[in-house]
Amino acid sequence: MVFTENENPAMSNDNNPTMLQTLGAGSDWHVLPAFLPLPGMGGLAVNAFLHKGHEPVLVDTGLAALGDAFLEALEAEIDLTDLRWIWLSHTDADHIGNLARILERAPKARVVTSFLGMGKMGLLGLDVSRVHLLEPGARLTLGDRELVPLRPPYYDAPETLGFLDTRSRTLFAADSFGALLPQPVESVREIAPPTLREGLVAWSAIDAPWLATADRAALGRALHGLERLAPTTVLSGHLPVAEGGVEELTAMVHAAWCSGPGSEVDPHTIEAVAEALAA
Ligand SMILES: [Fe+2]
Ligand SMILES: [Fe+2]
Repeated sequence: MVFTENENPAMSNDNNPTMLQTLGAGSDWHVLPAFLPLPGMGGLAVNAFLHKGHEPVLVDTGLAALGDAFLEALEAEIDLTDLRWIWLSHTDADHIGNLARILERAPKARVVTSFLGMGKMGLLGLDVSRVHLLEPGARLTLGDRELVPLRPPYYDAPETLGFLDTRSRTLFAADSFGALLPQPVESVREIAPPTLREGLVAWSAIDAPWLATADRAALGRALHGLERLAPTTVLSGHLPVAEGGVEELTAMVHAAWCSGPGSEVDPHTIEAVAEALAA
């Protein structure tokens, strides 16, 4: 169903981001969804995720512009003094917007990120004293499950960490599979496939323009690798929850970026600049 907004008149302007109703995602995850209008392009989902198990974990921290509404939605789900982990997909503003405020309210929470992620946190003036560095090959153990870090097939920041939840087989793909959409919806199933394909290809071209020059065979292997993981639920920072596997999404990325001419991207490529200088 099409989302209804949380009651927050300050956020009801058409061009403001909007906090939406918290939803279940798969067997034991929750999504804290927001929608960010992008004039002329529709809009983009901006999601954070919460697992309320033995060791509760929050994945990303929403938009700073929605700080009060985000915290209200989060605290409706969990007493933040119980929160143990904050998994940072990466340090882009749309993923760490409320990190400092949440750390203040969640004294037991540690921030899970990579060495580069910690460095960027420091450059942003964020507290790094509670970072739990995830070294290459390490996993995050949550009692009844592990989150196995993985690099999604495409991303817009090199510190990006997705994961596979070994118990629920939930895949968190960070920025991968984000799609421009005409309106917020609760599930990928509500989006007509041509609309999803167009929105996914358009957003990937904007967010990861290097896809146009990526090694197509290597990208194809990464996509097939995700399929072999056989996730039951796919969580993306910028897509409604996708239940029932990853193949529809990987097929769209494969068709757009692994075969035929690449989709249109930023015209200021190195080749274009070199040609302009030579002219
Ligand atoms: Fe990003
Ligand atoms: Fe993002």
